[in-house]
Amino acid sequence: MAAAKAQITIDNLTYGYDREHPVLKNISLEIFKGECVAIIGQNGAGKTTLAKHLNGLNKPASGSVAINGQDTRSLKVSALSRTVGYVFQNPDHQIFHDAVGKEVAFGLKNFRLPAAEIEERVSEALAAVGLTEHYLSYPFNLSKGQRQRVALASVLAMRTEVIVLDEPTTGQDYKESVQIMDMVGDLNKKGHTVIFITHDMSLVAGYAGRAVVLCEGEIIADGPVRSVFARPEVLLKSYLSPPQITALAQSLNRHSFPPDVLSVAEMYGLLTEKRGVKIGCCS
Ligand SMILES: Nc1ncnc2c1ncn2[C@@H]1O[C@H](COP(=O)(O)OP(=O)(O)OP(=O)(O)O)[C@@H](O)[C@H]1O
Ligand SMILES: [Mg+2]
Repeated sequence: MAAAKAQITIDNLTYGYDREHPVLKNISLEIFKGECVAIIGQNGAGKTTLAKHLNGLNKPASGSVAINGQDTRSLKVSALSRTVGYVFQNPDHQIFHDAVGKEVAFGLKNFRLPAAEIEERVSEALAAVGLTEHYLSYPFNLSKGQRQRVALASVLAMRTEVIVLDEPTTGQDYKESVQIMDMVGDLNKKGHTVIFITHDMSLVAGYAGRAVVLCEGEIIADGPVRSVFARPEVLLKSYLSPPQITALAQSLNRHSFPPDVLSVAEMYGLLTEKRGVKIGCCS
């Protein structure tokens, strides 16, 4: 059987904002349709710079980036945005309309969709991010967390094949973060490819299937989240720590706990089923 073709192919990508200082160094990465990939790494590692290559905002200095087989250098950002939706790390770099509804409708108008469909998609996206009542609000009167959700709604409404989210939960409280990530998870279940950047390792454990660790512009680990988190030395190099429950399992290694526990439920299962620990308040 022929191997599946990658939806995103990054081949030996090098990029810098000036010639002397490459920010990305020989990055090669393939991402397949329907994957949910987390890009993680310390501040300044190059995550945003890499993500901006996916919708053509950055173009390779050398090497190449292809989306569905098409080199991003041969496509305008406007054409790429039909396939790759990108939510900026800073929503204020994305928002420019004077009303939330208009902002979310903007990309859809560019798609020349019928007015009724635009309205339907805008309402659905605003409902999904909990901003229905802000349809007419001036975006810059909203909180940063709300503006982040406006930016997210704009991309959700486009229903692009690929969705790239640069720190989508920054500025959100716990409930909002969960709502956003559940929505992103639903889109992924419907077949959209999702790539998100985050500093929150519990989100990586909870939502991503694969983690790519960037360190000083190079990929130092790439694989199933479980295997990446099971390598604390790699995370340490990037000043990352695994979720606390993973760290707990790792610290119990000498009691033969596996190093790749991702959730409290898994740990509970290990404690109760395998080790026969009885957990209960009154027993
Ligand atoms: N527009 C720019 N002009 C010049 N240098 C830049 C620009 N954007 C980013 N850089 C530099 O490129 C490097 C990588 O930055 P980038 O924003 O990609 O990192 P990041 O991993 O997204 O960091 P963070 O977690 O803080 O968002 C940093 O040294 C940063 O200072
Ligand atoms: Mg960034």
